[in-house]
Amino acid sequence: MATSADVTHGAAPGTDRTDEDRMREFLEQVITDGGAAVAGLCTSLGDRLGLYTAMAGAGPLTSAQLAVRTGLVERYVREWLAAQVAGGYVTYAPATDTYELPDEHAAVLADPNSPHYAAGFFTMLQALYATEDALMDAFRTGEGVSWEEHGPALFTGTAKFFRPGYTAALVPEWLAALDGMVEKLARGARVADVGCGYGWSTVLMARAFPASRFHGFDFHRPSVRAARGIAAEQGLADRVRFEVAGAQDFPGKNYDLITFFDCLHDTGDPGGALRCAEQALADDGICMIVEPNGSADVQENATPIGRALTAASVAVCLPSALAQHGPQALGNHAGEEAMRTIAADAGLRHWKLVAESPVNRVYAVGR
Ligand SMILES: C[S@@+](CC[C@H](N)C(=O)[O-])C[C@H]1O[C@@H](n2cnc3c(N)ncnc32)[C@H](O)[C@@H]1O
Repeated sequence: MATSADVTHGAAPGTDRTDEDRMREFLEQVITDGGAAVAGLCTSLGDRLGLYTAMAGAGPLTSAQLAVRTGLVERYVREWLAAQVAGGYVTYAPATDTYELPDEHAAVLADPNSPHYAAGFFTMLQALYATEDALMDAFRTGEGVSWEEHGPALFTGTAKFFRPGYTAALVPEWLAALDGMVEKLARGARVADVGCGYGWSTVLMARAFPASRFHGFDFHRPSVRAARGIAAEQGLADRVRFEVAGAQDFPGKNYDLITFFDCLHDTGDPGGALRCAEQALADDGICMIVEPNGSADVQENATPIGRALTAASVAVCLPSALAQHGPQALGNHAGEEAMRTIAADAGLRHWKLVAESPVNRVYAVGR
């Protein structure tokens, strides 16, 4: 029997150079991952059907009580609960035949106002799995899969996933890390939020700085429509405008702040977008570029977040950029040096990392 020290890369499975233990260990990992993938569907169901919300803060519940609270069929609810217990999301007390969602888990799955809320991840997955056939074609032809080719779950899921992190950090940490920006915004400044999607970043800034004026731009019309609705609902229509515009040619001049939240790498021409920003900045204006916290070194992404990021890059970021037929399709982990070089080529030579979270890196960029 071979030992791990004998393993030679490229040995055919089943030959005597295959390390049996290593193979079984890997099989276990693959089964775990497959289980997580199926369980992800259950998480999405729990989110969409209001099961987590109904369990949040409710204490121990029988499956029948949860079925009544959610208006769902007990038999399905019981099956779903069994899967939740198997995954460690929900605890079970055999003595009372009850199930409980711990408060800490409720913060992650049932509370959109928690900074740790992550249910949006599973909303996005619904759309991503549905693009598998289009991705198969894209791998064969080199063509892209455009942002608008995806189902609406990608757009709502993206907004839902990023919003909690922006709510927690954008105003108190990220803007505060830009020299003098909070004071400028408080006095009244002009802001462009490029690739704004549903515009939660724009709305959060507008809510905090009533004297400033905010312009959100995105080339995806349904997202711009949704953003307008959100701004109106929040009573911010007086200071926020959303328009359909490309990152490479968004309108307006003399912006004190131009932001790119998790979108620059999705464009087919990040250099063109930054050249447009350079032209549109006021004399002492600053760009804030928020990018996923991935690394250009593929080995450094072997973390749970790195794994999710790199897979998302395959599924949506790279294909979205390729679909734009621009000069560069970066993927979401091109890394700081690549971005910095693109910015410098666009005339934005001042570059500084100002904040970091497990998911994002935030750069202040200027002339
Ligand atoms: C991952 S989403 C991020 C959306 C939003 N900034 C957020 O943080 O929730 C990327 C966004 O970039 C937009 N986008 C991609 N390429 C674009 C381009 N060339 N011009 C304008 N918007 C673009 C997409 O429509 C999408 O809304």
